[in-house]
Amino acid sequence: MLTPTDVATIGGDGNGDPVDGHRFVLDRIPVIADYLGFEAYLVGGPVRDRLLGVTTTDLDIAVVGDAVIVAEKLASDINGRLTVHQRFGTATVTAGALTIDLVTARRETYSSPGALPDVERGEIADDLARRDFTINAMAMPLPASVGELVDPHQGQADLESGLIRVIHAGSFRDDPTRILRAVRYAARFGFTIEPDTATLMSQALAARAFSTLTGDRVRHELERTFQESDPAAPLRLAGDCGVMTAIHPALTASHLPDVGETVTPLAWLAALVWPLNADEGAALTARLNAPSDWARVIADTARIRALASSIGDAAKPSDVCALLDGMAPDALKGAIMMAAGSPIADQIGRYLSEWWSVAPRLRGHDLLALGVPAGPEMGAALRELRRARLDGETHSVQDEQELVRNWAQVSDRTTR
Ligand code: CTP
Repeated sequence: MLTPTDVATIGGDGNGDPVDGHRFVLDRIPVIADYLGFEAYLVGGPVRDRLLGVTTTDLDIAVVGDAVIVAEKLASDINGRLTVHQRFGTATVTAGALTIDLVTARRETYSSPGALPDVERGEIADDLARRDFTINAMAMPLPASVGELVDPHQGQADLESGLIRVIHAGSFRDDPTRILRAVRYAARFGFTIEPDTATLMSQALAARAFSTLTGDRVRHELERTFQESDPAAPLRLAGDCGVMTAIHPALTASHLPDVGETVTPLAWLAALVWPLNADEGAALTARLNAPSDWARVIADTARIRALASSIGDAAKPSDVCALLDGMAPDALKGAIMMAAGSPIADQIGRYLSEWWSVAPRLRGHDLLALGVPAGPEMGAALRELRRARLDGETHSVQDEQELVRNWAQVSDRTTR
């Protein structure tokens, strides 16, 4: 049996490029499918990316038959981890750096707009017809050496013309998350949203299509947008199309800056919500059914924004720490993006890179030895030591011992 590492490096130069493992899996899947009397296809993103000459990290496979059985066999062959979603007939196999999503080729119907679809097994043509855009609705029969590209919706022509085009007029109504997907692909590839598709998008937004989506689904699409290599572009495009206000009336994206370096996804969330006040942030948190890390970033961003001028004016490092201690790091990173070039960004930058981690040189047991009792007084002494070190008033253990002795005398006098 192969280990995940073998799979990740098999057939390649051995340096672990996940694409090397793709080759092995793409050879193995049709062998499994054929044995079971099924057909297997590479579909969606990987086909699009291969035609564009872009590296794909994940593999999407459609099985005419039962994808779950193929996934079980594949997982056991490559010693991978298997996750099954029985309701949709889908499964994911992960092994090392590889992720392989397998779906049972299916026909979909939507009982109500924005809901998850009802599914029944179908042919490859059915499976391509249910997809979002023509460029994502192509399939390559496996093994890749034998068949021709299945492209019933002229996805290859749209790829060459750089167009994002839906397959049918009800696409955005059925699944409004596709509106955010459209802007993501348009921005990622520098493509244009085809005019009829753009009209359908506006109509769906005007008909309040987003209100049919659960918070989890909206949040998931936002998260995928934050994970793009340059999230500002799709987020701004989404704002221009009216997607942001459809999520929450106070949400905009035109303020987002271009950022040279890679920024964490939640720092992008912080940058996005920078203009929101605390109440608007709380409403957005509720709309997105946000988990605690998102909720914290949204709430802390409103706090940092409200404190911005005090942060910029703070004279001493300890003043900055008093304002920022306990804030979510991603909220601080988002604030740096939004206040770049100002004293506010400089102070927050220094806080993140140096000040937050400054601790007294003396520990609790040292203070006990110096006669400071455990309890609130110990806490106050440690805070005072940190403050003094931050502000450059102490430079050694001796300085700190001195400070504690003086401080103990002062507090003795005041409590006597
Ligand atoms: N899909 C769809 N409608 C959605 C989500 C997905 O039709 N709302 C289809 C598309 O055909 C897509 C495929 O499912 O290509 C896989 O979805 P996903 O992994 O989200 O997309 P990728 O194309 O792999 O995109 P990315 O490059 O962003 O990972």
